[in-house]
Amino acid sequence: MKLFFSHYFPFPFLLLLFILTVPHIKAICHVDDENGLLAFKSGITQDPSGMLNTWKPGTDCCSWAGISCLFNNRVTSISLFGQLDKPNSSLSGTISPSLLKLQNLDGIYLQNLRNISGTFPDLLFGLPKLKFVYIENNKLSGQLPANIGKLTQLEALSLAGNRFTGPIPSSISELTQLIQLNLGKNFLTGRFPTGIKQLRNLTFLSSEKNTLSGTIPDIFTSFTNLRSLVLSRNAFSGHIPESISSLAPRLMYFELGHNGLLGKIPSFLGSFRALDTLDLSWNLFTGAVPKSFSNLTKIFNLDLSHNVLTDPFPQMNVKGIESLDLSYNKFHLKEIPKWVTSSPIIYSLKLAKCGIKISLDSWNPKETYFYDYFDLSDNEISGSPVGLLNRTVYLVEFKASGNKLRFDLEKLRIVKTLKQLDISRNMVYGKVPKAVTGLEKLNASYNHLCGQLPNTKFPASSFVGNDCLCGSPLPPCKL
Ligand SMILES: *[C@@H]1O[C@H](CO)[C@@H](O)[C@H](O)[C@H]1NC(C)=O
Ligand SMILES: *[C@@H]1O[C@H](CO)[C@@H](O)[C@H](O)[C@H]1NC(C)=O
Ligand SMILES: *[C@@H]1O[C@H](CO)[C@@H](O)[C@H](O)[C@H]1NC(C)=O
Ligand SMILES: *[C@@H]1O[C@H](CO)[C@@H](O)[C@H](O)[C@H]1NC(C)=O
Ligand SMILES: *[C@@H]1O[C@H](CO)[C@@H](O)[C@H](O)[C@H]1NC(C)=O
Ligand SMILES: *[C@@H]1O[C@H](CO)[C@@H](O)[C@H](O)[C@H]1NC(C)=O
Repeated sequence: MKLFFSHYFPFPFLLLLFILTVPHIKAICHVDDENGLLAFKSGITQDPSGMLNTWKPGTDCCSWAGISCLFNNRVTSISLFGQLDKPNSSLSGTISPSLLKLQNLDGIYLQNLRNISGTFPDLLFGLPKLKFVYIENNKLSGQLPANIGKLTQLEALSLAGNRFTGPIPSSISELTQLIQLNLGKNFLTGRFPTGIKQLRNLTFLSSEKNTLSGTIPDIFTSFTNLRSLVLSRNAFSGHIPESISSLAPRLMYFELGHNGLLGKIPSFLGSFRALDTLDLSWNLFTGAVPKSFSNLTKIFNLDLSHNVLTDPFPQMNVKGIESLDLSYNKFHLKEIPKWVTSSPIIYSLKLAKCGIKISLDSWNPKETYFYDYFDLSDNEISGSPVGLLNRTVYLVEFKASGNKLRFDLEKLRIVKTLKQLDISRNMVYGKVPKAVTGLEKLNASYNHLCGQLPNTKFPASSFVGNDCLCGSPLPPCKL
């Protein structure tokens, strides 16, 4: 987003340099801008981290935090960012209509402030120079205005992560200068408007995590610049439309996960040479994965989990997969594919219920350093994960329930980063070591463990079904 912003910033670079390097030209910002911003501040009811502390009457508003001025000290952008990892860094209140006074505004960036509420800010209609609107991760609600298409000068519109309801207005098709459109993570309903095909300049289009329904319209031939298409987590049904094939030369990021899509995975997806991320998970796709997938040489992230896909899985020619999830289909892979084992950069491998029959003792992945996630549950994997886990550094999750693993749990190295360990329904023996107390989730049930349990917060169902485990939360040990 940032790269994109600076790239399209319509301002002569030399003039910018001049303003930045000649500080003694001290001018005070335009009185309308100052008044508009102070009115915005008075619409903010809580600012626990003091984001707006520098916004004081009588001082140059161009020097206030988050404010940029160009062109005769007129305010051109307002950028306030909350930090999602700091609960304190939020703003409560509403967007004052007085922002309308900032007639030279070109960008509004109100991101991750979490608690800005109210309806769609109609003042946007009165700002003729406005091109970039990112009002993300707040609490705006109500419907998107039917006349949203009047904002024809917009080049980027993101309202992601709010609480907007109702349909995507059909007038959105009039925003033909848009390069980015993000309506994701709201409560939008209805169909995906076919008029979106008019937005030929789009490089990024997302409506993920709404409740859009009906089929995905067959409108993609006009998008000659599209790099990212994210329609996951909706209620779309039907097949992947044929016109998606025209995105082949450029599309890098394609997500359709968590919908009700069905039919075969189209073979044309194999010609998407630039694709680095493909998510088709949690749909109803059937049949075999097309052979053409072997041509997806740049794919880093592939998630086909939770479908009804069948063998054979194509031999991929990818140099290094980063994350792979093929879990819960109808695969019988027998082995962990060689193109996975040889990846130098893999961090996430999820192959639950994939019909794998190897021994972990003889599985030698080229690189284990980056591994964060393993899910090998519900296969017929034997041997011991002790050596494998000994070679990981940043492991967060290891799940291998429902296999034939046989090892001494006390020998398993539990790295500090590990949060979840599920080795239930195997043949694990020995005692439960104290080191497990640092985990967030543990399941060691249905194994051959024995001895007194260390003091942990885990429920009894984490330990039941073993040979002779005792102590809380199981019955006390006999003396
Ligand atoms: C909130 O932020 C302010 C200013 O950064 C700080 O002084 C205060 O301790 C923080 N409060 C909490 C609960 O984090
Ligand atoms: C969010 O805003 C509402 C109303 O503006 C306020 O009552 C509430 O305390 C705020 N919540 C937080 C977490 O700041
Ligand atoms: C949109 O595309 C047209 C035609 O390629 C081009 O003239 C126009 O400058 C583009 N708009 C933006 C904002 O890049
Ligand atoms: C891979 O791409 C080449 C060149 O476009 C094509 O000839 C070949 O048939 C493709 N392979 C598969 C398995 O589709
Ligand atoms: C774990 O790794 C260390 C060196 O990093 C090595 O000394 C030790 O023998 C290994 N243990 C197992 C069980 O592989
Ligand atoms: C542990 O696994 C067993 C069997 O797979 C399951 O029934 C139980 O609910 C799980 N308990 C926890 C705490 O995950």
